[in-house]
Parts: sequence; C-alpha cells; structure tokens
Amino acid sequence: MATPSLGTVLVTGGAGFIGCALSQALAESADRWVVMDYMHPQVHATSGKPDALHASAELIVGDVTSAADWDRVLASVRPDTVFHLAAETGTAQSLHEASRHSRVNVVGTTEMTDAFGRAELIPGNFYLSSSRAVYGEGTWQGADGTTFNPGQRTHAQLDAGEWNFAGATALASTAVDTLPMPTSVYGATKLAQEHILRAWVNAHDTHLTILRLQNVYGPGQSLINSYTGIVSLFSQWAREGKQIPVYEDGDIVRDFVFIDDVVSAFVAATRRSPEKDEAPFDVGSGEASTILQAAQFIAQYYSAPAPSVNGAYRDGDVRHASCSISRTVTSLGWKPEWTVERGLAALQVWINAQIDAGKPAVG
Ligand SMILES: NC(=O)c1ccc[n+]([C@@H]2O[C@H](COP(=O)([O-])OP(=O)(O)OC[C@H]3O[C@@H](n4cnc5c(N)ncnc54)[C@H](O)[C@@H]3O)[C@@H](O)[C@H]2O)c1
Repeated sequence: MATPSLGTVLVTGGAGFIGCALSQALAESADRWVVMDYMHPQVHATSGKPDALHASAELIVGDVTSAADWDRVLASVRPDTVFHLAAETGTAQSLHEASRHSRVNVVGTTEMTDAFGRAELIPGNFYLSSSRAVYGEGTWQGADGTTFNPGQRTHAQLDAGEWNFAGATALASTAVDTLPMPTSVYGATKLAQEHILRAWVNAHDTHLTILRLQNVYGPGQSLINSYTGIVSLFSQWAREGKQIPVYEDGDIVRDFVFIDDVVSAFVAATRRSPEKDEAPFDVGSGEASTILQAAQFIAQYYSAPAPSVNGAYRDGDVRHASCSISRTVTSLGWKPEWTVERGLAALQVWINAQIDAGKPAVG
C-alpha cells in the first residue's frame, strides 16, 4: 500500500541512524523532508549531510534545546508531520551525565512544543521514538505464579553475582501490561518525553503515535559512538581479532531488532489514524537473545577468540529486556522480517565495507 502524502515533514535528530533509514523509506512520500539535527560529535564524524540521508532531504543544523534554533527552523518550515527522534541515547552514560540527557530529551521536547506555540502551528501528526528503557526490569513472575516489579538490582545482589531475581522468571514487556519503572536516567527521560508530548498533543487536538523500540541495530548505525550500539562495538572488536568481554554471566537478555523492521513499523504507523491516548507500540524482533549468544555469533563470524564472560556489571543495566509484539502486529498490520542471525550477518557485511572504505570507526 502506498503511503499517503505526509505533507511537510520535520524530523528532529533525523541525521542519525534511524532518521537516515526512515528518510530512505518515506522522504518520497513527503512534500518536503526537513531534518533538524545538531550533528552530535559523539555520533557523527563530520557535521555535513550524511550519505545515508535521502538525497531530497534538507538538513538544518540546529539544537532542539535552543529556542532560537527552533524559531529559525519554524520560520521556514511549517511541518504537517513531526518525527521526534533527537535524543541523547547513552543508557549507562546517562547516570553520570544526567543533566545533558535531561536537557536534550526532556527540555528539547518542551522547547519543541513551546516553539510550535510561538509559531502558532499545530502539526497534524507526531511520531515519537521511545525506548524499551522505560520499562527498566519490567515484570517478573515468581515460582508461585505471582507477578512483581522488582525494580533496579541492588549493589549487594550484583556484587554477590545474583544476576536474576531468585526463583523468578522475566516476562516480556508490553505497553498495555507492564508498569514503566526505568533504571537509567535515559529511560526516565524517554518516559518523560512520552508524557510531555501526550499532554501537549491532547491539549491541541492533534495526534501522537509512540513506538517503544527495543535494541535497534543494522547498517547505518554509528561506528564511532562507543556509548551505544553494543552489536556494532562487538563487531568492530571481533573484526580486529579481539576477545569480546561480556558482562555478568553472559545471560543478559535483549531483543535485537533490525533497522529495516523498525523503519517498516514507522511506515505502518503513518498509514493509520491514531486513536486518542492509545498505548505505545512495542517494536522488537519478538526474539529474546542473550548478549553472549550475540557475542558468540559475531566472534565466530570473524574467527575471533570466544567471548569472555567477566562477571562485571554496569549500574543501570537491566537483566532482561524483551517485549511482546503481538498487539503491534495486529494494530499496525506490521511484522518483523529479519531474524537476528540474518540481521547480524548483514551488519557485518556493511561494517566491513565501511571500514574498508576508510570510514571512521571506534578506535
Ligand atoms: N538505536 C536504538 O537502539 C534505539 C532504541 C530505542 C529508542 N531509540 C530512540 O530513537 C531515536 C533515534 O535514535 P538513533 O539510534 O537514530 O540515535 P542516533 O544517535 O544515531 O541519532 C540521534 C540523532 O539526534 C541528534 N541529536 C542529539 N542531540 C541533539 C540536539 N540537542 N538537537 C538536535 N539533534 C540532536 C544526533 O546528532 C543524532 O543525529 C532516539 O530518540 C532514541 O532514544 C533508539
């Protein structure tokens, strides 16, 4: 089905990994595709327009936390559709750089809505890329069948190597059933973005669709940002013949979702009329993997040494992050197409091509 015209589209943070991939899928369905991006040096090696951004996309270098930048952008762009992707995304980094994460993710969102107010502009549709980080540890189920929200693991528990919650099993999160209890500042700021945008959108009779993304990976992800994207980092280490270190006992669970499946979820979201106050949509592969499994696959791909499980841990890391995608599949008419193994192999092909072409990577 063709995507109906999105009119003039503004994508904050649209020069990043997800924004560039989205532009390739949707820019031709827009009258204008305008990206407002600060070109964060942690993510981008240069501040020029990325090759991966659609040729028709216009890049305006601007900071979502700056009222002046917003006024400059909205003086020449009157968006009908807004994809709000701009964010500081370092989950672990956010615990010690909390102000920076809050400024961009929280204040950047309120500066956006304030700027729409000053410009007397109410875009018809907002799409927010939220995160599985809002769930924290999510919900676990004890041996007796009762469920509970354990919250963050204590240092005493982690120092004793008690990685799980004794006798309990983690349940896949869903926006409808799982109480959000972030364990990172990043997760808290993503939850705040959801609430702020929802409040503003409802007060202005416009529309909001929130996608809660699991761990997104694939061609196009930043190769220089060592604070996010462990799959890319593991790949670069293994490619150099290094042993991949894996935290805890290796059995930290994640849902790795391939970039094309995330883009197709956004595309599917643009083809429907959102309902007022509908719950966010969980976007994942539907497959729970351990970090060790991913590391082993990547190490084998490069014939690197087997990963070393080191028993270390990081504050704020959750033990288990996976989601049920069934409501998203039904409501958006979408389904993921990429298995983790196929996606990881496709990522290696891309990384090799990038590095062989001399593109900057994590040193
Ligand atoms: N990649 C994932 O695994 C994942 C998972 C869940 C949610 N998300 C969310 O998806 C969105 C996009 O993530 P991504 O993976 O493309 O990250 P990315 O880092 O590749 O892209 C983010 C973009 O935002 C820009 N940016 C940062 N600060 C800005 C500011 N102050 N003003 C304007 N632009 C700014 C960066 O320059 C970058 O281009 C984020 O909101 C992130 O929270 C990503």
